Amino acid sequence: MYSKEELQRGLSTRLIGRKLFVFDHIDSTNTCAKALGDAGTDEGAVVLTDFQTQGKGRLGRTWNAEPGSNLLFTVLLRPQLAEETSNLLTFFAAVAVAKAIEFVTKRTIECKWPNDLLLNGKKCCGILLESSFKKNKLDYSVIGIGLNVNQKVFTPELSLSATSLAQECEAEFDRKQLLHRILEQMDFLYDDVRVGQFDRVLSEWQERSSMIGKSVTVSGYNNSFTGTVMSISTNGGLIIKTARGLATVYAGDVQINQ
Ligand code: BTN
Repeated sequence: MYSKEELQRGLSTRLIGRKLFVFDHIDSTNTCAKALGDAGTDEGAVVLTDFQTQGKGRLGRTWNAEPGSNLLFTVLLRPQLAEETSNLLTFFAAVAVAKAIEFVTKRTIECKWPNDLLLNGKKCCGILLESSFKKNKLDYSVIGIGLNVNQKVFTPELSLSATSLAQECEAEFDRKQLLHRILEQMDFLYDDVRVGQFDRVLSEWQERSSMIGKSVTVSGYNNSFTGTVMSISTNGGLIIKTARGLATVYAGDVQINQ
């Protein structure tokens, strides 16, 4: 693992990553960042590790990543957002990470609703947003990012759907350079986002999404339905035209029907 000093050298952000917590291993960077949030730590703090023993994914899943090969980190933020719009922070992170990967690999990234980044149709990055509210206002959010960078081997269950930058580009990538680029993109986009202005983020996200106009099946905890994706709502939901009318979904797994 890089040291904190090494990671901060050359980082040109004003806010994001100015406070940095680095661990060789930890249970989950999101769990740690939430404890920092509860303790009143300033926004912009980043928790980074080489290995998680209890890495968390969306919908109660686990996030497993080979030690020392990937980027596993969480950013703590305190933007002035109402509860309904806080989900948009996932889009903010997705765009920042997508732009950084595109810069480093020269490949195009696809954004898949709600929280995945795809390279050549396979998932290379997942984002886990967790938020804490006080009186309908956001107190803090932690945005956890798991980016498969140099991992070459995936379990048989994952190998059909997951990939890494190294696997797709047949080259190894410098994790520190990539992390800097991501934090710098976030720092730039956060000027608008911190005051609830997501226009740029949503248009950058939609440019990288191929879901609009496609037939999809959305599976939730206990139901599933099919329809055509019309657009993304102003608070980050997926607007779907179904046989019974328009529906907006905020969570679930989406599969594009061929
Ligand atoms: C998903 O695709 O389900 C989201 C995965 C998010 C994984 C990252 S790794 C760093 C951070 N800490 C966690 O425990 N989870 C997120």
